[in-house]
Amino acid sequence: MHTDLPSNDFSALFEALESDPDSYLRGEKAIFASAVGRSFYQQLLPSGSVTLGWSSWSVQWLSRTPALIPDQVQIAYSHDASACAAFARQAAEDWHAFLLHRADELKPGGQLVVLSMARTATAGCHFELSPGIAVVNTRRSAPKAAVFTPADMKAVTG
Ligand SMILES: C[S@@+](CC[C@H](N)C(=O)[O-])C[C@H]1O[C@@H](n2cnc3c(N)ncnc32)[C@H](O)[C@@H]1O
Repeated sequence: MHTDLPSNDFSALFEALESDPDSYLRGEKAIFASAVGRSFYQQLLPSGSVTLGWSSWSVQWLSRTPALIPDQVQIAYSHDASACAAFARQAAEDWHAFLLHRADELKPGGQLVVLSMARTATAGCHFELSPGIAVVNTRRSAPKAAVFTPADMKAVTG
């Protein structure tokens, strides 16, 4: 099951799945690719139906633009404290909503891997491309994410 915003051109995806030599559908008659066109800040799939989820390089897009950025194009490079705080608040709110919906969708013991950019511990608005994140607790009351560093990732992927 693939998901993206309703405005996404899903035909490019299905074309690639059909014709790419590395497609997971190649030679497989019993795999049925499908797609949901809805924001991942809402529930996407039936509760308790997902064993393994994957999200790569997408959750850095917030649900809305919370403020104008007066000094830069991207918030990651801004030195405007008010804009930085507004984006940080929105990011925290969106991340919480994202986790709650994924927690609903995952089966007990199911797992979700999220690859995204993360803010460095030191600088207010400054981002670096880094961790993979896995949801380890799928209880809706308190979903939690464990964060893996690039070194952890390397140890797993070799
Ligand atoms: C850089 S692409 C990553 C695509 C793919 N996951 C990959 O790793 O190649 C980011 C995708 O996130 C989608 N996206 C952004 N905001 C979204 C949202 N709120 N809900 C669902 N998809 C979203 C965009 O439409 C875009 O297709």
